[in-house]
Amino acid sequence: MKQFKRDERPVIAVTLNGRRVSAPAEPRMLLSDFIRQALGATGTHVGCEHGVCGCCTVLLDGTAVRSCLTLAAQADGRELTTVESLADQDGTLNALQNAFRNNHALQCGFCTPGILMSFTDYLRRNPKPTEQEVVDVLSGHICRCTGYAGIVAAVLEATGTAAPKTGGKS
Ligand code: FES
Ligand code: FES
Repeated sequence: MKQFKRDERPVIAVTLNGRRVSAPAEPRMLLSDFIRQALGATGTHVGCEHGVCGCCTVLLDGTAVRSCLTLAAQADGRELTTVESLADQDGTLNALQNAFRNNHALQCGFCTPGILMSFTDYLRRNPKPTEQEVVDVLSGHICRCTGYAGIVAAVLEATGTAAPKTGGKS
């Protein structure tokens, strides 16, 4: 991590979603503010700013972190992945995003980027989670709209671990 002199605004350089970018940042600037304000990637949302709600979650060198609890300086020279990376350039959603849409897993969408990024990290390590494991990961996020059931269903659908639906016409 760079050492800063008082009142210095050093340039922080990161690879954001595969592209090298840089911008000056105050030594105490939060990574969440750096991403949104300096880099203009506003898909990452900021809610509590205390590490509680999870909506600011991004990947730093592939690992999910709360960007509101991380300094921009800590990301210097590292790889940053945000929700903007998930869909294709033409806007085609990835499997997890599609499953969110299919299962009504978002309403206002404020919490959604952070949840998507947490599961992007988690599902790489555990591609076939149980329902309880999905619930455990989701426990690190607050959603004020959905009641969570749709989010759990979406993750299970995206990973092919959803139980077959019953009760339909035969
Ligand atoms: S804004 Fe970072 S955890 Fe809530
Ligand atoms: S969809 Fe509104 S907070 Fe989760």
